[in-house]
Amino acid sequence: MNPLPPLLDSYGRTFDYARIAVTEKCNLRCTYCMPEEGVDFQGKEKILQSDETLRIIGILGRMGIKKIRFTGGEPLVRKDIVELVSGAAATPGVKAVHLTTNGILFDRYAQSLLDAGLTGVNISLDTLDAEKFVRITRREGLDKVSQNIKLALDLGFPRVKINIVLMRGFNEGELKNFTELTRDHRLTVRFIEFMPFDSHQIWEEGGHFASADSLVKQIETLYPDIQPAPGTRTEHHIFQAPGHQGKIAVIPAFTRSLCGNCSRIRVTADGNIRNCLYSDKEYGLRELIRTGGSDDEIVAVFRKAFAEKEKDGFEAKKTSSAQKVSVEDIVRVSMTQIGG
Ligand code: GTP
Ligand code: 5AD
Ligand code: SF4
Repeated sequence: MNPLPPLLDSYGRTFDYARIAVTEKCNLRCTYCMPEEGVDFQGKEKILQSDETLRIIGILGRMGIKKIRFTGGEPLVRKDIVELVSGAAATPGVKAVHLTTNGILFDRYAQSLLDAGLTGVNISLDTLDAEKFVRITRREGLDKVSQNIKLALDLGFPRVKINIVLMRGFNEGELKNFTELTRDHRLTVRFIEFMPFDSHQIWEEGGHFASADSLVKQIETLYPDIQPAPGTRTEHHIFQAPGHQGKIAVIPAFTRSLCGNCSRIRVTADGNIRNCLYSDKEYGLRELIRTGGSDDEIVAVFRKAFAEKEKDGFEAKKTSSAQKVSVEDIVRVSMTQIGG
């Protein structure tokens, strides 16, 4: 490997974690993500192929990126997901390869993913009630997802987490049922603040947002002896109840108190770099790759993207609504287009 200087921004942050979206498509239709009819998915020719994605990962590995997360859309709708994982795991410099999935198709690939080197799986599950599962995802599947969480634990994946988007008037009352899962299972349950990336769905109704601070208070009330625990940078608040095997985290995705510590790079499924979840500004890699661009040219696009990274998600949001500078003027309105 020919190492390159690390990726830095103008605030002295270094980046070692890349979230790589591999599709915009999804087999669910969560109301906090997109409408029943889906969003304006881009044609297959616009989506990076696995060799293109793995080339980018190879370059990222040389720039000090240690952790790769495949996201979507739903990454398991990609038939070559195992190949992507094994390619990422074999990349010099890469130490961990994770996946964020809705869990529906997980059993189909679980053992192969483990064998390919997948080290962690974050499964999105917002309710433990079958009727509410249909209401939120507009599809059947609670049993499947629950069995697949158990499968991930049984197979021995090093990190298993449940992502719960917390919405007032929908699943707030389930906080305890979720946290109780940590008593006997070595998984992290993570409550995520609801964000307005839902393609104009239920955010507009108002009243569904619950702040990270209010969730932390509820958790402290349920478990007065709860202790702080180690976690990732996204897990801004993370605890362990005494005697519990698993951990409980709260992610301030909307209040953005995690930005100072940001170490994340995003690449969209159609091959654009995003330097912040809240920024509309994108830096295209696809055409560069497809017209014979060199590794140095690709590195230069990453450096430019991160030199221009704003201090936090509030600044990024301000700048992006002021100047829509997305390549091709794509306006992404759903998490399925951004990659979470
Ligand atoms: P770990 O590496 O296990 O901590 O996972 P992660 O939280 O980085 O990834 P995951 O795909 O499970 O994302 C969980 C939630 O955190 C999603 O709703 C993301 O949108 C949110 N999130 C991840 N990165 C950022 C970020 O840079 N800013 C904000 N505001 N939210 C983020
Ligand atoms: N607000 C918060 N989280 C969201 N996710 C998708 N849409 C939203 C939203 N509008 C979450 C998913 C998944 C992660 C990648 O992003 O539930 O866990
Ligand atoms: Fe699919 Fe994830 Fe969006 Fe739900 S949140 S519709 S699982 S991409």
